[in-house]
Amino acid sequence: MKDFDMHDLSWDEWDEMNDPRPAETAFDMVVEQAISRRGFLGGVLAFGSGAAAMGTGTLLSSASAQALGNSRFPFVPIPIQIDGTVHVPDGYGWAPVARWGDPLFSDAEPELPQDTGGSVASSARIFGENTDGMELFDIGGRQVIAVNHEYVNPKINLPGNADGVPTSVDDVIKLQNLQGVTIMEVAAGPDGWQIMVDSPFNRRIHHRTPMRIAGPAAGSDLLKTDLDPTGTEVLGTLNNCGSGRTPWGTYLTCEENFNGYFGSTDAAFERPDDYIRYGIGLESRYAYEKFDARFDVSQNVNEPRRMGYVVEIDPRDRDSIPAKRTALGRFKHENAATALARDGRVVVYMGDDERGEFMYKYVSNGVYTPGSETEELLNDGRLYVARFSNDLTGIWVELTPGSTGMAEDEILVFTRMAASKVGATTMDRPEWIAVNPVAVEGYCCLTNNSRRGVRSEDGALRTNAGGEEMGVNAVNPREANDYGQIVRWYPTNDDHASEMFTWDLYVMAGNPDVHGDEYAGSSNIHSGNLFNSPDGMMFDTAGIVWIQTDGDDSNEGDFAGMGNNQMLAGDPATGEIVRFLTGPNGSEVTGLTWSSDKRTMFVGIQHPDAPFPDGEGMLPRSTVIAVWRDDGAMIG
Ligand code: FEO
Ligand code: CA
Ligand code: CA
Repeated sequence: MKDFDMHDLSWDEWDEMNDPRPAETAFDMVVEQAISRRGFLGGVLAFGSGAAAMGTGTLLSSASAQALGNSRFPFVPIPIQIDGTVHVPDGYGWAPVARWGDPLFSDAEPELPQDTGGSVASSARIFGENTDGMELFDIGGRQVIAVNHEYVNPKINLPGNADGVPTSVDDVIKLQNLQGVTIMEVAAGPDGWQIMVDSPFNRRIHHRTPMRIAGPAAGSDLLKTDLDPTGTEVLGTLNNCGSGRTPWGTYLTCEENFNGYFGSTDAAFERPDDYIRYGIGLESRYAYEKFDARFDVSQNVNEPRRMGYVVEIDPRDRDSIPAKRTALGRFKHENAATALARDGRVVVYMGDDERGEFMYKYVSNGVYTPGSETEELLNDGRLYVARFSNDLTGIWVELTPGSTGMAEDEILVFTRMAASKVGATTMDRPEWIAVNPVAVEGYCCLTNNSRRGVRSEDGALRTNAGGEEMGVNAVNPREANDYGQIVRWYPTNDDHASEMFTWDLYVMAGNPDVHGDEYAGSSNIHSGNLFNSPDGMMFDTAGIVWIQTDGDDSNEGDFAGMGNNQMLAGDPATGEIVRFLTGPNGSEVTGLTWSSDKRTMFVGIQHPDAPFPDGEGMLPRSTVIAVWRDDGAMIG
């Protein structure tokens, strides 16, 4: 157990510490689960350890792939690192583009004050904290990046406050301003890629930016507050994690751990059931509720129900009002991976990142045609949740009043509870989903799940937040899964709108230097590409899958030989996975996009502990970096 310090925790650690789940104790359920688990293990062993449910015919070991001389990667994979900077292969270079605190506008502080972490006035005029998902848009030849700022690091952002604890309204406003989304134009000049200060595209969207609530739940009584009796207008977007982009050129930002921003000034406040399921507690992480009544659930019980959505933003118009798309459901949205069905309907794959939560898919009723009106494409559609079978098939189960017994607005606001009613498969924390542009298949990082298959002292299996047991199954095959895996699915009829699919595991991370069983990982894991906790994931136009990690970087024990968090490249056809980039100490590598000419890759370095990128004596700064090939060739 770590020495928990409230302001050094990742969001996941904070959530786990603050929201212990009830242990399941029903005796008959324990027996039932034990029986089904025994049956499943027999099937796993038939495949051989470490390769449970691995697809046949699509995977070669990395050694085999290299022996065939068919590696697609034009670089020599790099070793692990445990230092304070970024490393890329020989023949490649990198440089910072946007650091927390860099001005977007000329009225911002030109240099980040190291003693204060910046003024409140400047905080909405600079590049925000904890860069995460991002997408680059080519707008008339100009390069415009939309990028998330997931959370804050108060000890660093409020260096003058004891333990970084906010003590005033101004402190809270500053933290609110440092999160959300940045839209920024970037350009490559003699000094490399830089932010174009005062570009007409530059914009900050934060925890108090006006937005509209769109889709079938707009106007629901569940979403009405004293400030907004219509249930259609809301301030702010919270905990913006992964990203997505629509075929019509808008940005999708995904609200993940919104629960941690709410608290109650009344200790006797009794939490309704949906609060329990979504982990909304009585004390927030950053003390918002003490200084901003909107975040005090004893005064605004519906306010948290207005967070937890996918939000659509038009990067072309900085006066546009972002729209929360309720049709895509409400949960801890990781990212939003879009695809088109064969008939042109819009498909959005989404993960709910929490232990034992689910994978979802939205399919529009309307068809996308370039140049046509797009407003209803993310308002009017069907929402599904995934059910994986141990026979390597699966089904997307539609969430309807008929299948769930819930009203439409309840399904879209209490989506987790609706999904539980149709027997969705509890997953090992679905993080990013990516869709292969050159094959009809999707991938989801199941980052880890320390409670999978684990029993409490009374013998009961640990559960998700809804009380559903998390026994092992074929798609989540390892108990106490600290390494993670990537599941891949193949929609029936090569159509992303299909309700049926088959699936396999693209990779099970593991450590063959430490373990000889399934914790060694799948056959495409070897001493040269060790990693844990796959999280960010994105395909390039050539069909290479880029995998970013957010895991244990202790480099000890089970994690020996894995080093700092990193970015790897994977070949879907051969299973080969190679290490391309390593991050500085303490950081997570998250967020990836490309310049329109594909000669620059932009990569996010989030929450470094090291004084990255400015060196000793300077504050650590989350940073978007540019990565290129020295010979100027394409890199994606
Ligand atoms: Fe914000 Fe699940 O990562
Ligand atoms: Ca993530
Ligand atoms: Ca993560």
